[in-house]
Order: sequence, then structure tokens, then C-alpha cells
Amino acid sequence: MERVKTAVLLSGRGSNLQSLIDATADKNFPAEIVCVISNVPGAGGLERAAQAGLPTVTINHRNFNGREPFEEVLQKELENAEVELVCLAGFMRLLTKRFVDRWHNRMINIHPSLLPSYKGLHTHERALKDGVRFTGCTVHFVRAEMDTGPIIVQAAVPVHPGDDADALADRVLTAEHRCYPLALKIVAGEKTHVIDNLVETECVRAPDTMLLNPRDN
Ligand code: GAR
Repeated sequence: MERVKTAVLLSGRGSNLQSLIDATADKNFPAEIVCVISNVPGAGGLERAAQAGLPTVTINHRNFNGREPFEEVLQKELENAEVELVCLAGFMRLLTKRFVDRWHNRMINIHPSLLPSYKGLHTHERALKDGVRFTGCTVHFVRAEMDTGPIIVQAAVPVHPGDDADALADRVLTAEHRCYPLALKIVAGEKTHVIDNLVETECVRAPDTMLLNPRDN
């Protein structure tokens, strides 16, 4: 089976990369990771990639004068590895419209909130401040405007009494590690049609249950 050649871009510890490494270890998974690229030298995710025997590249954005020259090198690396699909996994650099448009419907991102709520940084702190009873995470196709784009998978995660931002982040992260492999499987398996801002997915089912928070029993 031809698997979709996928790059993972990251800036940090790479726990989402790990979930993708684990999923793609199955030869029947429709995507394979062909390179892992970090804009931060020494990012923990690079070590995870090396452990898994994956090629790694570091492109330190600080060595470039502006976003475009950085992205030209990034583009070259992606082309060298014949990448077909890009996964942003804790990649904390904004990308230009030009780069994003090059990868239209071929680049996906994970974000730690139920988009379109809580775009940007400090999602868990802001959710706790607002007193929401649910937050979660989203995997979406990337568009030029930050944290926008057609939604592929979301997980709803309850806020517990007494949560601080770290506790909530941990609970959401556990959900992220299920969402990202599922989203990659759906996209690489060519099960999606993107129509405007909507993703239509073949052969998937929505859950039957709704959740109350607090519980009523
Ligand atoms: C994850 O929580 C991811 O959703 C978030 O960074 C973390 C990376 O963790 N991404 C963003 O905030 C992007 N806007 P990881 O390095 O352990 O995968």
C-alpha cells in the first residue's frame, strides 16, 4: 500500500509527534512520517524522532531575516523529502499566507481548544477564567488566518472543579493524542472533502451520547 508521505513540524517536547509515531508504526496506517522538522534547536520532539529512526531537520528561525527566507528553506526540505502532507504538532511559528496557500488542504494543525473558541495562546487559562464546563482540542486544515480552517476532528474535555491550567492541559493533551492520529488517518485515507469551511468525512459516525457537566446523577 502506498502511504502518504507526511512531515511533522514542531517546536517543543513532541508528545503529539509521539502519538503520530505510534499510530504510523502500523504498516496499514495510510500515512508514514518521512521527516520531522523543528524550528527550535534541541526541541524534545527531535529526540523522539531520532529514537524512532526518523530523519530530523532543524531550521532555526532565528538565523533568518524574516519569515519568507525561513519558509523557503522549509519548503526545500519538504520537497527534498517528497512530502505530500504536513502536520503541525506544537509548531509555534506563524506561517505566511504564501506558504499556507502552497499547502492548501495538505497541511493540518492541532490546537488545544474547541475552535473557534480560544484561538491563540494560553487557551486553558482563558477557559478557566471564563468558567466554561467543557473545553477540548481541534485538528483542522490550516488557513492563513491563525487557528482557522476547516475542522476535521474535535474532542470535548470536561473541566473539573479545582482544575488549574496544568491539570486541564494534561487532560486535554490526553485527548489530543487520540485526535491527531484519527485526523491523520481520515485525511491520509482520502476520506475527506473540503467544501468552503466544512469538512465532509466518509464512513464516520458521530457519538450518540451527550455529556452534562456537572453530572445530574
Ligand atoms: C499541544 O498542546 C498543542 O495543541 C499546542 O502545543 C502543544 C504541543 O505539545 N499547540 C498550539 O498551541 C498551537 N497553537 P507537544 O509538543 O507535546 O505535542
